[in-house]
Amino acid sequence: LGEKITARAHTNIALVKYWGKENEQLIIPANSSLSLTLDEFYTDTSVQFAESLNSDEITLNGNSVTDDKITKFMDIIRKKTNINTFARIESTNHVPTSAGLASSASAYAALAAAGSKAAGLNLSEKDLSRLARRGSGSATRSIFGGFAAWNKGTDDESSYGYSIEDPVKMDINMIAIILDNQPKKISSRKGMKISIETSPYYQSWIQQTTADFQTIKDAIKENDFTTLGKTAELNAMRMHSLTLSSNPSYLYINADSLEVINMVKELRENGVECYYTMDAGPNVKIICQNDKISEITDKLSDKFSSNQIKVSGPGEGIKYL
Ligand code: DP6
Repeated sequence: LGEKITARAHTNIALVKYWGKENEQLIIPANSSLSLTLDEFYTDTSVQFAESLNSDEITLNGNSVTDDKITKFMDIIRKKTNINTFARIESTNHVPTSAGLASSASAYAALAAAGSKAAGLNLSEKDLSRLARRGSGSATRSIFGGFAAWNKGTDDESSYGYSIEDPVKMDINMIAIILDNQPKKISSRKGMKISIETSPYYQSWIQQTTADFQTIKDAIKENDFTTLGKTAELNAMRMHSLTLSSNPSYLYINADSLEVINMVKELRENGVECYYTMDAGPNVKIICQNDKISEITDKLSDKFSSNQIKVSGPGEGIKYL
């Protein structure tokens, strides 16, 4: 105890989305999900327990903050290990925070890895993913590189992440278009709760998403980019239709998002194969293969500046620095 441990976790973008919890406290999802971990977006977090502290001392991107979610998460680690010491936590995000680029995924994956090791635990990847899940559901998948999945499960033991394929064989990239890096107005936590409780379409979402999971898993095995892209795009829009059909309804798609969606459709009509996906914010992620990147970024640059356009290939799983 007392050693400073630093871990790096990359963010992931779901191809089959998680949108709703069966158990809010343990973060057990209503469906299994599947993602691609990205190389260019990551979080570095260090944790050091120190007897001298009266509370957790948290620094995010160089700013000292208080964050109840992080302290609660650290309490889970303290409870597991019978440690009653607070910790110094320093985290640097190489992801625009709260902009639907799933920064909570890399954040809690890195915190789970650094925190558990600093507390003297030596967890397997599966157990690390279970721990990361308690911070944020999507973090479950960020323990793994490449294509990863989160098995829904029914309790703390059976709800975990696993690798589908790493390193990735498929030629696949994501182009993130940063349309707004302000914190989102309706958090995914709040949004998915409204949807599971009020959308009349929620049960059909579960059915459809179960089928999408199998389709994308098979497409990965068969190196079938077209099926993967089409299915991921449909799955994302079906998730967003849950937001519109909720009471009260809410929406992450804004005018700029629509503009990107229309650009993707136009590119496709002109023979440039690409697909789009969106999470709990207005940013759009375009899924494409290597030889299409420059045509797509050229088109995007008619409307967006180069620092709004970020290209990434598949990234690796959790590592200690
Ligand atoms: C749209 O993992 O941020 O990105 O578990 O409440 O922290 P909490 O939610 P979070 O939700 C992610 C939602 C999503 C889809 C996905 O990543 O699967």
